[in-house]
Amino acid sequence: MAESILWEADPHTIAKHRILQAYLEAWAPILLQSHMGRIVYIDGFAGSGEYTNGYEGSPIIALKTIVNHAFFPKFTGDITMLFIEIKPERAEHLEALIKTKFSNLPNKIHWEVKTGDFGTNLKTSLDGLHKEKKRLAPTFCFVDPFGWKDIDVDLLSEFMLENKAELFITFMVGFIDRFSGDERNHKSMSKIYGKEQIDEINKQKTQEQKEETTLKLFIKNIKDTINKKGKTDRIYDLSFAAISRNNRLIYYLVYLTSHLKGLKVMKEAMFAIGKDKGSFRFNDFLDDQDPGRQGTLMDYNDVNSWQNNAGEDLYKAFEGKKTTVNEVENYTWTDTRWIFRKGILQRLEKKNLIRYLSKRKKNALTYDDYGNLEFV
Ligand SMILES: C[S@@+](CC[C@H](N)C(=O)[O-])C[C@H]1O[C@@H](n2cnc3c(N)ncnc32)[C@H](O)[C@@H]1O
Repeated sequence: MAESILWEADPHTIAKHRILQAYLEAWAPILLQSHMGRIVYIDGFAGSGEYTNGYEGSPIIALKTIVNHAFFPKFTGDITMLFIEIKPERAEHLEALIKTKFSNLPNKIHWEVKTGDFGTNLKTSLDGLHKEKKRLAPTFCFVDPFGWKDIDVDLLSEFMLENKAELFITFMVGFIDRFSGDERNHKSMSKIYGKEQIDEINKQKTQEQKEETTLKLFIKNIKDTINKKGKTDRIYDLSFAAISRNNRLIYYLVYLTSHLKGLKVMKEAMFAIGKDKGSFRFNDFLDDQDPGRQGTLMDYNDVNSWQNNAGEDLYKAFEGKKTTVNEVENYTWTDTRWIFRKGILQRLEKKNLIRYLSKRKKNALTYDDYGNLEFV
């Protein structure tokens, strides 16, 4: 795989593509509607665009999703799609494939395959913008390397300082924990972790703890660096674990955004894929509210069970408080592992754990119309 132009897509690559596609399908209308200017999509580790077993690569999936979207014809702005690939033969293959598959693209789509290193290209673009005192257009950046040596916290944080920047990263944690004991790897690891953090990772007793620490510190470092660089908006993170048949972690998908809408869309996309039992799960160990439930596999097909659990978490957070449905909904998205569904509140209401302080209007369409509520 390391040297060939094409290779076989394994089940987790396919599942990752389904999350990407589900996200882009929902992301496209939001961006296409709300930005009449320019939007940017970067695939920083683009690959060749296809696999030997017939599956399409991420650049083709992204192009198709945008171009075939029902909203696309109405969009009056420009879309720039940049595909960066370091191996010239893969970049050439991808470019030829795009030309064949999308021979008649409208002018509002600008695409380019760049042969080169993701980090260098991103840095050059950001430096160029800063020199001209310009800001990056709303940009979604997919960072999908084979390993972890191209992950650079400083650069990714600089990118996240831009307004409306979103990152979607395949974080190959397995490599890190296997090699973190070997000092030869510490130079690459130092782009992600401080010296004490590498020691902290190595100190963990179980495989699982090592993986969790590796991810937690990675997200913490990105967030801390972004804050140090001066961004005060809250950065939301989501992570999703790809699990092999023998229950080993293959990689984490990590998503970072400062936009609530983006967070909701990605959580929904991960939720939909997470319903396929077995191969993916949300990371609940990042939920510091309830460390006792670490590592639990959630079955989202069992609506009763997950919505009861979600209700319990909300009750813990709001017990004795007066609040609004809106606030509870936002809290569910941003501070719990759950997605928001009306059923969560209905279950709480049935158990008399919440009561509404204003009556539902006759033709209420949304939960906002219920007004205030109290967790009793
Ligand atoms: C996991 S594959 C990408 C697969 C593709 N994103 C997809 O989902 O179909 C990683 C790709 O990144 C390329 N690559 C490795 N190092 C790179 C770098 N520093 N900059 C850009 N591309 C790189 C590899 O040649 C390989 O094609």
